[in-house]
Amino acid sequence: MRKKLFLALALLFCLSVAMPTHAQNTSNSFVAGKGTFLLNGEPFIVKAAELHYPRIPRPYWEQRIKLCKALGMNTICLYVFWNAHEQQPGQYNFTGQYDLAEFCRLCQANGMYVILRPGPYVCAEWEMGGLPWWLLKNKDVRLREDDPYFIERVALFEEQVANQVNALTIQKGGPIIMVQVENEYGSYGENKTYVSQIRDIVRQHFGEDITLFQCDWASNFTLNGLDDLVWTMNFGTGSNIDQQFARLKELRPDSPLMCSEFWSGWFDKWGANHETRPAADMIAGIDEMLSKGISFSLYMTHGGTNWGHWAGANSPGFAPDVTSYDYDAPISESGQTTPKYWELRKTLAKYNNGKKLPKVPALIKSMHIPQIKFTEVAPLFSNLPQSVESNRIRTMEEYDQGFGSILYRTTLPELNKQTVLTVDEAHDYAQIFIDGIYIGKLDRRNGEKQLTLPPCKKGAQLDILVEAMGRINFGRAIKDFKGITQKVSITIDNDGFPFVCDLKKWEVFNLHDKYEWYKNLNFEPIKSLTDNNGQRIPGIYRATFNLKKVGDTFLNFETWGKGLVYVNGHAMGRIWEIGPQQTLYMPGCWLKKGENEIIVFDIVGPKQAVCEGLKEPIIDKLQMPKPKTHRNENENLDLSQEIPIISGQFEAGNGWKEVKFEKPVTGRYFCLEALNAHDNQDRTCIAELYLLDKEGERLSREPWTIRYADNEDVNNNNRTADKVFDLQESTFWATLKGVPHPHAIVIDLGSEQTITALQYLPRMSANAPGDIKDYRIYLKKEDFNY
Ligand code: GLA
Ligand code: CA
Repeated sequence: MRKKLFLALALLFCLSVAMPTHAQNTSNSFVAGKGTFLLNGEPFIVKAAELHYPRIPRPYWEQRIKLCKALGMNTICLYVFWNAHEQQPGQYNFTGQYDLAEFCRLCQANGMYVILRPGPYVCAEWEMGGLPWWLLKNKDVRLREDDPYFIERVALFEEQVANQVNALTIQKGGPIIMVQVENEYGSYGENKTYVSQIRDIVRQHFGEDITLFQCDWASNFTLNGLDDLVWTMNFGTGSNIDQQFARLKELRPDSPLMCSEFWSGWFDKWGANHETRPAADMIAGIDEMLSKGISFSLYMTHGGTNWGHWAGANSPGFAPDVTSYDYDAPISESGQTTPKYWELRKTLAKYNNGKKLPKVPALIKSMHIPQIKFTEVAPLFSNLPQSVESNRIRTMEEYDQGFGSILYRTTLPELNKQTVLTVDEAHDYAQIFIDGIYIGKLDRRNGEKQLTLPPCKKGAQLDILVEAMGRINFGRAIKDFKGITQKVSITIDNDGFPFVCDLKKWEVFNLHDKYEWYKNLNFEPIKSLTDNNGQRIPGIYRATFNLKKVGDTFLNFETWGKGLVYVNGHAMGRIWEIGPQQTLYMPGCWLKKGENEIIVFDIVGPKQAVCEGLKEPIIDKLQMPKPKTHRNENENLDLSQEIPIISGQFEAGNGWKEVKFEKPVTGRYFCLEALNAHDNQDRTCIAELYLLDKEGERLSREPWTIRYADNEDVNNNNRTADKVFDLQESTFWATLKGVPHPHAIVIDLGSEQTITALQYLPRMSANAPGDIKDYRIYLKKEDFNY
């Protein structure tokens, strides 16, 4: 017994010597020194692995941290998701999955420093960029601005965060070396007052000594750069690294350099191919940075999972993200090492001061679960909750509902012929039923707002079932209300005179996404998966299954429609048959020996109510027609009769370029024609395009749509023509190899605009592949000829 105690004490002693546990040493410090960070006065290169604790099952936290350590990293970089910690105003949760302090302590116990990014806005493809939906109950709230209500709520939240972890800063012997202020504010706006307010709140709670930093893009970090903060850059693999830091070096020659988000891969959206990025580009970038003494954080090193309803959505347009946040990162969603991991480990081993890297911890094995048959269903329409009445349409938020679905019901006047129904706007996926019969859907991803109703008798029941997906997490559109946002109308044809009539008198059913509600429904045995009209049946489906042993698995839902899954009360995430994700990651730590329960709220209804646990995930299988291009069949843009407003030659290389017109020009249809490329290849690539108005300000691109692109790489979702105005500098329009010049893109500006200049950003990759050389620009009031 004594021997054991002695051994344990000895082990504890060894551990505390071997790891940077900073035992109450007041001289601990982390600052930006001349050209490098200084840790306790010594030069220090941050090699950070980005991980998000709420995206990893808590029992696996330590294993994932160990995987990062064994990869050769010395720091964990993490976001704090405000909306996960404060799901209702004033009700803070820092326990279980959300135990931030415990996660930081685990990092420290495993010899890792921590970079804390407490928002309040974080993006991360997380619902509303981490902001709580309930802020929208105050309709006029100005999010991420110096709005007193917003700032008040931020201050309250950051105080709670600090209560959890401000004793864990490096100055106090903890692992936290730096804290981030806001997130990429330059891609949202220009407001130093607001950014300063956030800085002051963070400083107030974390103390004067902690190093604070701001991260942004090379193209816009000066917009909100505060003099007393460290500035770091975010950019993806394949970027020209020297160029990314060029402006920073000019402005602050002595600043340590850090890429605070080096994107290892990218996130997936519903209805688009799974994203991957070559390992070689990532390795080359990290190698280059380390050889130049540049610090970095690899975003993501391990992405994890958007459990429940936490996946966000991107804009412009509406592109909801899938449940998996695998990110094509070195450590897969389920914590497996990938070829990228091993390659990267080799590179990081070179920069470990001659020391061997720690051993890679044991991986968690996956297992197969034989097909589970669902036996019970609670059909949605016979299990509706209590309704409320409202004359006008209200959003979900107005009903104090954050997530789930909402059913709007009213009666129709007599329709003696086909009639157009307009839903303005359904956020995000609406299914229309008349007298219980499915008529069609409106999918916000495709901008669908109208649908034709069949003739029907007076008093027919109209049901609009609207499912909310993630709130937009990027750009100005983060103020994203759910349900129906404005109104619903029908256009009645009155002898050739269309008459628009708003529908009123609604009965509304709030279908909160709550396990307690699903589990207490009246389940009945499944008799058939289709109704009398042959339609699939929306409902809550339930099954139980027995396990002799537990392990990780991937639940396959490819025969289901669209909805949300719960296992043993854990919210597992969204499913949607269109893919690319077909399986949900099911961690073994949430399964039980003996009986387990699985509940699926399928708003469409399954084709087969079965589910099997696979040993490997399916996250790259689309079940839908091939993505459309921005060129209709037989269209060929004819510019032979058109006169360009300007033509010329762009300079070669990465970075923004501007062309000023001789005089302002007015029109609606804008065309940029690329005649050749600086690299003499046949491709054209454009990362971003802006047009300037008479004041030299950038025109809003919200109303823009792509009218035509002669060619585009639709197999890669980040290379379609609309990527020239998606606010993301790392995504771009690319034509396919082998299709020769000229290439042209036509943008419908939505209405007539007067423009004075064009700004063009070539593809961000080193040497700007597809960089346009000779160009012609056209602007017309009417559309072009095709
Ligand atoms: C930005 C954000 C991150 C994340 C990445 C893309 O850099 O700061 O939160 O959204 O883009 O994955
Ligand atoms: Ca882009």
